[in-house]
Amino acid sequence: MEFDTIILGAGAAGMMCAAHARGRVLVIDHARAPGEKIRISGGGRCNFTNLHAAPENFLSNNPHFCKSALARYTQWDFIDLVSRHGIAWHEKALGQLFCDDSAKQIIAMLVEEMTRAGAELWLRTELRELQKTESGFALSLDQEGNRHNLTCRNLVLATGGKSIPKMGATGLAYDIAEQFGLAMTETRPALVPFTFTDGRFKPLAGVSVGVRATAGGASFDEAMLFTHRGLSGPAMLQISSYWREGEPISIDLTHGAALFDTLRAQRQAAGRRAVTTELARHLPARLVDALAPDLRLSGNLADQSDAHLKALCQQLSQWRLTPSGTEGYRTAEVTLGGIDTDAFSSRTMEAKSVPGLFAIGEAVDVTGWLGGYNFQWAWSSGHAAAQAL
Ligand code: FDA
Repeated sequence: MEFDTIILGAGAAGMMCAAHARGRVLVIDHARAPGEKIRISGGGRCNFTNLHAAPENFLSNNPHFCKSALARYTQWDFIDLVSRHGIAWHEKALGQLFCDDSAKQIIAMLVEEMTRAGAELWLRTELRELQKTESGFALSLDQEGNRHNLTCRNLVLATGGKSIPKMGATGLAYDIAEQFGLAMTETRPALVPFTFTDGRFKPLAGVSVGVRATAGGASFDEAMLFTHRGLSGPAMLQISSYWREGEPISIDLTHGAALFDTLRAQRQAAGRRAVTTELARHLPARLVDALAPDLRLSGNLADQSDAHLKALCQQLSQWRLTPSGTEGYRTAEVTLGGIDTDAFSSRTMEAKSVPGLFAIGEAVDVTGWLGGYNFQWAWSSGHAAAQAL
């Protein structure tokens, strides 16, 4: 069987690409259903894009690579598509757009778009062999025990990254890149909770607090959640993409607030209030209790000198913690790094040294922040490749 294009992976990027590609297109996936990560994303409501998506929200060895694709298929284009399909959505916070009802609507929309474009979808299908031919590629596939030998002019790698192997994530795109001599950047779990092996945060599990988290030169103002294993919540997931083993994370619990001035004013107005009671007006009470011994919190506000209050605010604004590690690919939302973009055209996503070979989505070394940015990259890069097929 001959196809113009075969797309490996019926995830976000692969389906988007198939919906816009010309010619005879086949999408293959080893899963039982397409778009499994879309289905579980955003707590089942899919944070499908971000109003503020811009190149600054992406990490890559080449920060310029994502610019062209993001500019040619924007968040507004995807919002338009979603709206045309009558899918109701809302902005949750920080420009993050979610379906009102279900992430399954996004999958149904992409399947409908793919089908309308004439693309075929083969599920439960594995790649057994891949070879370059003079005019393209020869593939041997296994579909539930049946062998198929196919050829195609274009091959699109859209099998994503390594996060959540239980959901069928594999390193297939990386293996194929290697087969064709394309470089990889270091891959690591990202948008992932931190672990502390000493279990120090167990008593605080479930407590959430707004913080500014800083590591590796980046800062995020979002919520932090204490867990049985360590620290999670959007602030920690975001900063995990910038953190490296052995390095501390700096946490500002004052969230840039003028806490010192507030504490001084309260000392004047309510001097007999316990300092822990006053702090519990600004931070979760369980956290204040847990921090009290380390911060030597005792006595009333009236007992606290200016110097003591200043030192206290400084400690609260520069809480330095060194995680033991992260929860790894088991729970990471994305893989940081991937197929090195240097070998690809940023306009078409085609490998410069292997005509007809394309890579899109998470498989490529472009990783978005938390908040709908990773799907936007999947839509934009999938669309960019489709224009060149
Ligand atoms: P994706 O992983 O979507 O698709 C890859 C496809 O390839 C899969 O269908 C897989 O089965 C298939 N495949 C893999 N190996 C194969 C093989 N060997 N043979 C055949 N097929 C193979 N992002 C965001 O912007 N907003 C959000 O709300 C969320 N939420 C979220 C929650 C959770 C729990 C996770 C794990 C991730 C997110 N993300 C997210 C990230 C987002 O899901 C991710 O970045 C995109 O799905 C990447 O799209 P791709 O198409 O590149 O890969």
